[in-house]
Amino acid sequence: TRVTFVQHDGARHQIETGDGYSLMEVAINNNISGIDGDCGGVCACATCHVYVDEAWTSKLGERTAMETDMLELAADVTERSRLACQIKVDTALDGLTVHLPESQH
Ligand code: FES
Repeated sequence: TRVTFVQHDGARHQIETGDGYSLMEVAINNNISGIDGDCGGVCACATCHVYVDEAWTSKLGERTAMETDMLELAADVTERSRLACQIKVDTALDGLTVHLPESQH
C-alpha cells in the first residue's frame, strides 16, 4: 500500500508499506519528521496530528470520540484533522495522502 506524507514546506515522501500498521507507525518507521507518536499510538498525545487530503476524508470514516477529545489538545485543528495512530493502513487506502501541520515541524 502506498501512502504519501506531505511536509508543511511541500516536500513529499511516498512510502510503500505493508498493511496492518497505523499511519503513525509508518511515519516513525520511515523517519518522517513532523510525526512524533509520543504516546506509542494509544491516542493520548496528539503528536501524530495530520490533515487528511480532501480526496480521502470521506473514505477514512469518522473519528472516534477519544480521537476527537485528544485533537482538542492539538494546534490548528480543522475538519480534515486526524490522529495518524488511529488510521490503520490497508489496501483500501492505497494512494492515501496526508499533510503534516506546521506546528509539528
Ligand atoms: Fe499519540 Fe497518536 S501517537 S495520539
